[in-house]
Parts: sequence; structure tokens; C-alpha cells
Amino acid sequence: MNELTQTIKSLIHKSGHITFAKFMELALYHPNYGYYASGKAKIGKEGDYYTSSSVHPAFGEVLGRFICRAWELVAVSDFTVIEMGAGKGFLSLDILDSIKRNNPTLYDRLSYLIIELSPQLREEGKATLREHLSKIKWVDFLTDLKLESISGVFISNELVDSLPFHRAKLKNRKLQEIFVGLRDEDFVEFIGEPSSLELKEYFKGYDLEFEDEQEVEINLKAREWLSDISSVLSKGLVLTVDYGFLTPELYSSIRMKGTFRCFHKHTLNENPYLNIGEQDITAHVNFSDLIRTGDSLGLSTIKYITQGQFLVDWGILDIIERYSSSDISSEKSRLAIKNLFLPELMGERFKVLIQSKNLENKIRTFYPESPFRISFQSPLDRYKGL
Ligand SMILES: C[S@@+](CC[C@H](N)C(=O)[O-])C[C@H]1O[C@@H](n2cnc3c(N)ncnc32)[C@H](O)[C@@H]1O
Repeated sequence: MNELTQTIKSLIHKSGHITFAKFMELALYHPNYGYYASGKAKIGKEGDYYTSSSVHPAFGEVLGRFICRAWELVAVSDFTVIEMGAGKGFLSLDILDSIKRNNPTLYDRLSYLIIELSPQLREEGKATLREHLSKIKWVDFLTDLKLESISGVFISNELVDSLPFHRAKLKNRKLQEIFVGLRDEDFVEFIGEPSSLELKEYFKGYDLEFEDEQEVEINLKAREWLSDISSVLSKGLVLTVDYGFLTPELYSSIRMKGTFRCFHKHTLNENPYLNIGEQDITAHVNFSDLIRTGDSLGLSTIKYITQGQFLVDWGILDIIERYSSSDISSEKSRLAIKNLFLPELMGERFKVLIQSKNLENKIRTFYPESPFRISFQSPLDRYKGL
């Protein structure tokens, strides 16, 4: 039994059963042994899973273009980009390389803040970003920043899916929380009354029909996270990239077991009690809740769109064109870039949410709509009630 498993079992022995969110927080973020905090998280070919930034630098290049336009829109002298959950800094590298190449004036003026929970990943990030160190500051927590001190862009890629979430089950139309306990030294799950009123009332205001025994994930931390962003942001944009759905699709009865998954060496499993501290645990993001929570915090939604259409709208087809010679590395690059935007690959599963604060009058012409449509219907039009 590894030390993390022992630590979690000792906690349950001492204080009784724990919520799944607490279990997940320890499995991923325990300061010494957690999957992310201890640096065991491996992303890319040799690791447990791919993210867009590990697929091709074109993803960061497009985000760089987005940031350049955002700079013109926000129009302040102290423009800041904050990237949260930057891991080893590969996306930051692609973004900063792209801005340096395409907009040296902005590169000279901007500050880039990285908020990364894992000390090990922060250190590895410094090595990845050695050529841009004069531009970057690392901050431990979002809440370390002063209220309304930031004007600029807040970005994250695959952060929200990894925030510890609660799990629940619908029983006779009542929400029951899934807890983690021990029987004969084995982890067991059982259901009980929700651990907080917020959890109990999470679905209030949504018009959803659940099947009996349907399991769901509830990410209360995502609300806290958005509220912290809104507190530090004086004026600017929040761009969130992740896999997920609006509520009708996320909580549809075709997902009787919810969407939570574990990833270990590119294989997927549904057992979080295996390989504790050595595998990722994740669930699809509830974008409806980010949109609604944002509305209540003064963050207006300006776009919710598939990753594929977002990349096309911001010029990925020009970038792929650059790789049009026929040597083998170009061919490889073209295939990797296609992975990012084709609907059947990463283009449809991943979504992009863009929210704005204090930019009301200027925002209308900000988003470029490409005439080339890769997603025929915007996910927001599909579900009017979110
Ligand atoms: C799935 S990884 C994504 C890494 C990277 N963005 C990419 O695209 O490859 C999630 C990252 O978020 C970090 N993270 C999770 N919760 C965090 C928090 N509250 N504050 C800062 N970083 C966090 C993890 O340590 C991890 O590096």
C-alpha cells in the first residue's frame, strides 16, 4: 500500500467517512504524494493523457492571437495575462513565443502571471520557460492577488475538470451524496444526506429530469474559482477551455454513471481507488453553471463555442497552411493540428467559454466569425434554457 493510500485510510479511521471531493483533493493535490502536487502527473505521449498544448504549438499560437486582440480591446498600460493550472508551462511557452513573434510591442509591455498549485510543476515550468523568465511571475494562489488589481486576460486549459468535485446519486427524486469510507480496510462508497446546503440546492433553477439511481458530479469549486477570478479582475476577458457540456447534455440519462473518469498511462478506468496518487481523476465541466455563476458575478458570456470552431475563427487554417510543404515533419504537424480542431477528434468534445468584465460597449466586434463553419450549430442555440 502506498503512503497516500495509508494517509487517506488513517484520515477515515480518525474522522469517519469523507466526501468524494475530499478524497479527490488528497489523491491529486496532497502536498507530498498527490498526483499533481508530487509531480507524478505526466502529460503527452509518455504520460497518462494528452492536452491540446501537448498536441501541437498551433493551439498556443491561436491563443496568442486571441490575446493580441484582447490587448487592443482592454486598452490599458498594465495589461496582464494570467494562466492558471499551467503545469509544466508548455502552453505558456507557445503563447509567449507567438506574441513575441507577431506583436513585439505587446510582448515588451505585457506581464504574464502563472498560478500553478504544484511546486514541482512550477519548477519544471521555469525550465520550460527559461527564454521568457523576465516576463513571467509565478503566484501560489489566485487569492494572493489584490482585489480588482488585474486588467487583461485570464486563461486556463483543462483546469476546471481537475478541480475536486462531489459525486451524488438521485434516489426517489432526492439528491444523495456519495461518500468514501472503509470496510475491512477496503475503500467503499455509500450514500447519505448531502454535506452542504449548496450541494443540496445545486440543481435549483435548472429544468432537469433525472432517472432513479442516476449518478452525477457536482463541481462547487468551479463556482468558487470563478468568483475569485471576478474579484481580482478589474476589466478584461476570461477564456476557459475544457471538455464539457451544458446541463441538458451533461446530466442526460444516457450518462447514468456520470462522466467521472481516471486516466493512467493512456488507459481509461472508472476506479478512483486504484493507483491512488498515480492517476488523474476528472469529470466533464458543467458550462451552464460557469455561465450562470458568471452572470451573477458581472462576467458576461460573449461566446460559448466548440474548440474546433474557436480555432477556425481565430485562424488555425492559416497556420496549417504554413505547414504545406510535403516533407515528413510538416505532414506530421498537419495531422496534429487537425486533431485539435476536427469535430470527431478534439474539436467538438472540447469547448471554449469567453466571458468579459467591464467591456460592455466594446465587445460587439471583438469576436471574428470565420465564414468557414466546422460546427454547424452553436451549442448555446441548441439549449435555450442552458
Ligand atoms: C490537467 S492539468 C492541465 C495542464 C495544462 N494546462 C495543459 O494544458 O497541459 C491541470 C493543472 O492544473 C493545476 N491545478 C489544479 N488546481 C489548481 C489550482 N487551484 N490552482 C493552480 N493550479 C491548479 C494542476 O496542478 C495541473 O498542473
